[in-house]
Amino acid sequence: MAEKEHLNLVFIGHVDHGKSTLVGRFLYDTGSISQQDMKKYEEEAKAKGKESFVFAYVMDTTEEERKRGVTIDLAYKKFETQKHSFTIIDAPGHQDFVKNMITGTSQADAAVLVCSIAEGIQEQTREHAQLAKVLGVPQILVAVNKMDTANFDKAKFDAYKVEIEKLMATTGFKDVKIVPVSAWTGDNVAKKTEKMSWWAGGSLLDNLDSMKAPPRANDKPLRLPIQDVYTIKGVGTVPVGRVETGVLKPNMQVVIMPAGKIVEVKTVEAHHQQLPQAGPGENIGFNLRGAEKSDLKRGDMLGDPKNPPTVAEEFTAQIVILKHPTGIAAGYTPVFHVHTSQIACTFSQLLEKLDPKTGAVVEKNPTFLKNGDVAKVVIKPMQPLCIEKASDYPHLGRFAIRDMGKTVAAGIVLDIKPKQVSAK
Ligand code: GTP
Ligand code: MG
Repeated sequence: MAEKEHLNLVFIGHVDHGKSTLVGRFLYDTGSISQQDMKKYEEEAKAKGKESFVFAYVMDTTEEERKRGVTIDLAYKKFETQKHSFTIIDAPGHQDFVKNMITGTSQADAAVLVCSIAEGIQEQTREHAQLAKVLGVPQILVAVNKMDTANFDKAKFDAYKVEIEKLMATTGFKDVKIVPVSAWTGDNVAKKTEKMSWWAGGSLLDNLDSMKAPPRANDKPLRLPIQDVYTIKGVGTVPVGRVETGVLKPNMQVVIMPAGKIVEVKTVEAHHQQLPQAGPGENIGFNLRGAEKSDLKRGDMLGDPKNPPTVAEEFTAQIVILKHPTGIAAGYTPVFHVHTSQIACTFSQLLEKLDPKTGAVVEKNPTFLKNGDVAKVVIKPMQPLCIEKASDYPHLGRFAIRDMGKTVAAGIVLDIKPKQVSAK
């Protein structure tokens, strides 16, 4: 049998709208979670006075997340449908953890925006939808959740759908499917429901199954942004991340950028299984010969020593100002979020202001950029930053700019002036 097409699918949306519960319910109803495990979650949720978070406990695995009933970091689970194998990424909705959401979204081939009909469109509903678009997620599906709180009513769904369609139009996503579900009661998640006999658009599962997998860049040089580095007893240092392009396999040489250190791959694994190799889109852990924990950190990039990841001295970008309280001038130094990296960067030059619709230059060397402006700018990272041109590596050349806990702008990398790094 041909191998199933793989997709990374991120669940996003405002805090408490039911992302983790929906993922948990989805996995449970498709038989991916045993009754026994579910019983354990039930007992723990009850003991913590968090009964309503029982399905969320499938994805919220840390003590703090379970006690607070809030997702903090990304959680990953593998899942298969008839057509696809998915890695589900459950992102946090809370505004304090948008940086984790950005990392998850920059790894995604598709997003499910979870919108609760009980709470309506909220700040992170908008922000996440916008981020998914500017970070280059090619397809989005909206799950209208908590339909049980609206008595599964068609009129209420239709009214909310109009609001969501307006939001989608402003973000630039086209032909978005909007699917009613109740994660809590399990209606229209993995199977059709009589409670919404008026609905003919298929379950969430049906809709996920009909998504398209992206083409995979197997033939490009290796690029693997490091997401975390663990120390595991008896194994040693285990970095984790997602292969963006190329292939990682045991015994090959790789370079760690921006340090320039060359090491050898010992093992590659995913979901506790050793792999002969890992390709684009796969989330893996691995072991490196000759690398200590201090040699690697989040935001570093593994690459092919013959064609190493680019470290930018400075780069030219096209950005859009989404929401900045005062506007942006040269010298401004917010935090740039690129793949798994968060690094302060300075706007060193504002080159051109562009017409958002046509891309034509409307002003040379503007002194100031305000909300809604699109501009070409030169950016200087304050620390070594691995970044690529968006035309070469789409996921590695897109970024969000954050300041004071908010996303203020986003953009793509057009060109890079590389920093020379010598191999060690
Ligand atoms: P963060 O990850 O913290 O952003 O939240 P989340 O979107 O993952 O929400 P979570 O799954 O933790 O659920 C939040 C609350 O909403 C819990 O009390 C859930 O039981 C409740 N909830 C989720 N889905 C539904 C639903 O379909 N119906 C009802 N009535 N409640 C739901
Ligand atoms: Mg959650």
